[in-house]
This record gives sequence, C-alpha cells and structure tokens, in this order.
Amino acid sequence: MLWLAMDAKLLAVEPAGDRLRLRWADGRATERHVVWLRDGCTCDACVDGFSSQRHLNTADIPDDLAVRSAKVEHGDLAIVWDPDGHESRYAPQALAPRELPNGRSNLWGADLRARVPRASFTEVSRDDRALARWLGDLRDLGVTVLGDTPNADGQVERVAELYGYVHEGNDGRHFEVVSSSKPTNFAYTPKTLALHTDRPFVDPVPGVQLLHCLAQSAEGGENMLVDGFNVAEKLRRADAPAFATLARIRATFRNRYDQVDLMARHPVIQLGHDGRVDAVHINDRAMRPVEAEGADVPAFYRAYRTFFALVRDPANQITVKLRPGDVLVFDNRRVLHGRAGYDASTSHRHLQGCYTDWCYVESKLRMLAVEIGDWSNGR
Ligand code: OGA
Ligand code: ZN
Ligand code: ZN
Repeated sequence: MLWLAMDAKLLAVEPAGDRLRLRWADGRATERHVVWLRDGCTCDACVDGFSSQRHLNTADIPDDLAVRSAKVEHGDLAIVWDPDGHESRYAPQALAPRELPNGRSNLWGADLRARVPRASFTEVSRDDRALARWLGDLRDLGVTVLGDTPNADGQVERVAELYGYVHEGNDGRHFEVVSSSKPTNFAYTPKTLALHTDRPFVDPVPGVQLLHCLAQSAEGGENMLVDGFNVAEKLRRADAPAFATLARIRATFRNRYDQVDLMARHPVIQLGHDGRVDAVHINDRAMRPVEAEGADVPAFYRAYRTFFALVRDPANQITVKLRPGDVLVFDNRRVLHGRAGYDASTSHRHLQGCYTDWCYVESKLRMLAVEIGDWSNGR
C-alpha cells in the first residue's frame, strides 16, 4: 500500500539539520536528507525527459552541498542549492514515504483452496483493469489460474506476451508436457511428480511459470501447490537450526541428457540480504548428493527431511485440476508444484509450458498504474 495517494498535499518545508522537514495537509511531518533530495532532482540537466536516463552522476554531488533556499510553490517543493545555484522541483508524490512491499502478509496454506484467484484470458486481453488485478494477484499470492484461453498450439506464449517476454531455454520457447516414449524428464511421463520448483539446475532460476492445459486426463493429473514462503517461515519457527542449515548449505541440481549438462547450486531456502526468504529450490528429480563436509552432511539431510515434511503436509497444500483452456501461472521462486499421476493408456493429457521473468510483471503493473490511475497495485 502506498501511504500517500496521488492527491497528497504538501503544506510547508523547514530546515532540520542536514534534512528538510516536510509538513503535510493530513498533519504528518516527514524528513528527507538533503543529499537524497539532490540525488532525486529530475530537472532536464539531471535527467533526460525521454529516456529517463540520468545525466547526473551520484558521485559528483559535492560534499559541501547545502540548501540555499527551500519553499513550497504551487504545491511542489522548490529548492535552490549551494554551492552551484542548481534549482530542483519535486512533485509531492515523489517525496512521500513508501512502505516497502511486504509479500509476507499473503502467506497461504490449504485455506487458499476456495479462493485461488481466477481471471479470464478474454477479459485481461481487452481490459487493463482486469490485467492489473490478475498480475497483482500473481505478485501477491504467487498463483493464479487464467481461464478461457484458446486451445491452440503455442498459446501459452501469447499469455506470457500479455505482460512480458518468453524466457527461452534449452527446452525451447515453450515445452510440451505430454507422455512421451523417450522422456527427458519425468514430467513427460504419466508418473506422479513430487512437489518441486522447476529448473534449479540453471542460474538464475525462472521467475514465473505458465502451464497451459490443452487436454486433461479423466482421472488424476491434478496439480498440488504449496506456498514455499509459508512452509519456510513455518520451519524457521519450528526448527531454527534446520532453517539455518538449508539457508547456508547449497544443494546441487543437475540436468543431463543428450542435449545439455546443466548444473547449479542453490540453497534450498534462499535468503535475501535482509534475512527474508527470497526463493525456495526443491527438485527431487534434479537433486544430487550434497557437496558438504563433516557434520554438515547429516545436518543437511536432517534439515531437508524436516522441511519436506512441512511441504508434504496437506495443511500447507492446495490442489487444482486444470481444465482445457486453463493456464496455471505461478511464482516458480516461491510456489512448489506437483502432479498426481494418471493413466496414459486411457487418457490423453497435454500441457504446454513456458517461463518469464518477474521484472516484466512488475514493469507492467507500474505502467498500468499510470494508465488506469489505480496505484493500489502499482508499487
Ligand atoms: C513440469 C510439471 C506439471 C504437470 O512440467 O515441470 O511440473 O501438471 N508439470 O504435468
Ligand atoms: Zn537538477
Ligand atoms: Zn514442474
């Protein structure tokens, strides 16, 4: 949520040591450091209006920078700087404090079953508000189903192109999930697939995964889904040493057949610089014995077993049976997916899948926020 809406009103500015204090119409007072303000100047000398590329090099902001004068003018903050007389203007929304996005409020378990966000391909194709809602749900919950998608070869790429670009890999622009006589992946068999994330044997791991259902088996073939951030946080609370072990020791993943020999190492629980879970990497089919020494070896296996018990716990899972026309779109760095087995001798089941990067989802959301004037999604 943005704290400040587009109509936020700036009333006054006053010096406060090496900061400026801003007084807002709703009674709040906030402060901004002067060097931060100088760095944020968007005048034509500092930023190119067309490309938004910066002429200003942050390293060239002088050490003896000071405010010569500051006032509120036509609702904007206007500053003249010492020592060079440079002039800056700031729209109030550029100065508003933002609460950083916190996806942790949206953790889910089996409770999501009855409210998996669904959207319609037809609708999101023609209505930017529906597109923004769909992508906002994808960002916030990590899973959505897009229905009534045309039953056509390669259509999954058209879905990706609603917001971004297909991220092509050795499996092509899109891959066929269908029972094959020479499967290079157990996904291309009718076997049950344990909960996993895709392609941990590459770096970076694909961000968003799309699975378009063209034909579904009569029996079986359901997809199980688990919020990896939720189970990781549960592990952190229940068994802090196991959590720390999976965050510290990298697991090895490999994918080798006649076309490639891909290998990458990722911690099963990948933390960001702030200690929050950034991603989970789980794939029983691609995992190799851990490359660790001494006590780390049994510690890793114990922690992995403990974590997988949470992954397998039905209280943390939902099940979705895709119908032809449905596209399951999910965060491959957050949400684990699995598949119930089916009988390929009596049922034809066919999905097409592809991957995209998160940055384009976020880019689209920012652009849609400007277009439709709804900032609730466009952080
Ligand atoms: C995959 C996969 C799921 C399914 O191809 O990686 O997980 O429903 N497929 O077949
Ligand atoms: Zn400037
Ligand atoms: Zn998969």
